[in-house]
Amino acid sequence: MFDQVTEAPPDAILGLNEAFLQDKRDQKVNLTVGVYRDEAGRTPILECVKAAEERLLEREATKAYLGIAGMPDYHLATAGLLFGTGSAVIEEGRWVAAQTPGGTGALRVAGEWLRRNELCQRIWCSRPTWANHHNVFHAAGLDVETYAYLDETGTALDRDRFLDALRKIPSGDAVCLHGCCHNPTGVDPDGETWQAIAAMAREQGWLPLIDFAYQGFARGIDEDARAVRAFADAGIEFLVASSYSKNFGLYAERTGALTIVAREAGVVPAVGSRLKQVIRANYSNPPKHGAAIVAMILSDETLRTHWEEEVGQMRERISRLRSALVEGLQREGVSRDVSYLLRQRGMFSYSGLSPLQVDRLRSEFGIYLVRSGRINMAGLNADNLSYVCRAMAQVMS
Ligand code: LMR
Repeated sequence: MFDQVTEAPPDAILGLNEAFLQDKRDQKVNLTVGVYRDEAGRTPILECVKAAEERLLEREATKAYLGIAGMPDYHLATAGLLFGTGSAVIEEGRWVAAQTPGGTGALRVAGEWLRRNELCQRIWCSRPTWANHHNVFHAAGLDVETYAYLDETGTALDRDRFLDALRKIPSGDAVCLHGCCHNPTGVDPDGETWQAIAAMAREQGWLPLIDFAYQGFARGIDEDARAVRAFADAGIEFLVASSYSKNFGLYAERTGALTIVAREAGVVPAVGSRLKQVIRANYSNPPKHGAAIVAMILSDETLRTHWEEEVGQMRERISRLRSALVEGLQREGVSRDVSYLLRQRGMFSYSGLSPLQVDRLRSEFGIYLVRSGRINMAGLNADNLSYVCRAMAQVMS
């Protein structure tokens, strides 16, 4: 029977990471999967995480199952990051959350929850979007459509086309938006545009699902929540899929959350009960360790301050790398304007390289990028930057 199974194509992102690991060349550079790397090319465990783990080791008394939706103090910590302390959503009890296995788990639970409760049949994603969005939403039983996002250069937002596309989305459909640090492009709407989008969601009646995986990587913890807070201020229903992979460096701990915001508190118990039903049929109840770390850090003033410093250091390092990449490309004689790399935010940049140029970088230079031209900026460092700039200049010429 199993001989009927045909081989699946490699994953667009993780498959490239595997190919990189198998590449025997001495000189090779991995700019594929979105993990933060330091100057030495390592993905460090944050110091605040280590400190929280030490406390957990001392204090944790059981490994018994968590409840289906996870830990209430983790839900509250997540709501605080999303809406800000004292926000109306929190004060009025108009939200419910579930601890999920990573941000991907949150997206999948969101999709299934929408489908199973017959709230939507269709979700709209930006063109382009994270390579896994289509997979996850299809697997949840949703139809996926796309809306325009970038201008003809492929490196900046086409605000008018984007808003126009959102305006045409029918009432009752869901719309996946990237809360900040758009993956794969690094191109974000500004604050005023987010206000316009939130007003449009209210008027048009479509349902925002915000994928929020990079809080703190664009401008700061609160600043990066402006999209989420624009929807909260609009007083509408919406969902947020949070990931703590990047901003807490908890990649392998699969630490995420799905938060659902209602218009009135009265519907919250029913909404939460149906959320638990989806989870129970899926993975029963969530993993604990990563969420316990996040909850501890966010509820302890010293650890939280330390965390914000460490996120700030990652953000600033990536921003320095953006400048260094632009200077390096100019030094190598690239004459076209690459200043868009400085305007993009977060871990990723849409480099403007074509799939063929990306293929050349891999085959001739051992430099691995996602085929869309997405660069993980955090994979650059003082040792590989000149090499990458020279190679990019060569394939761009
Ligand atoms: C990425 O976009 O590279 C990350 O979000 C990791 C992943 O799972 O694709």
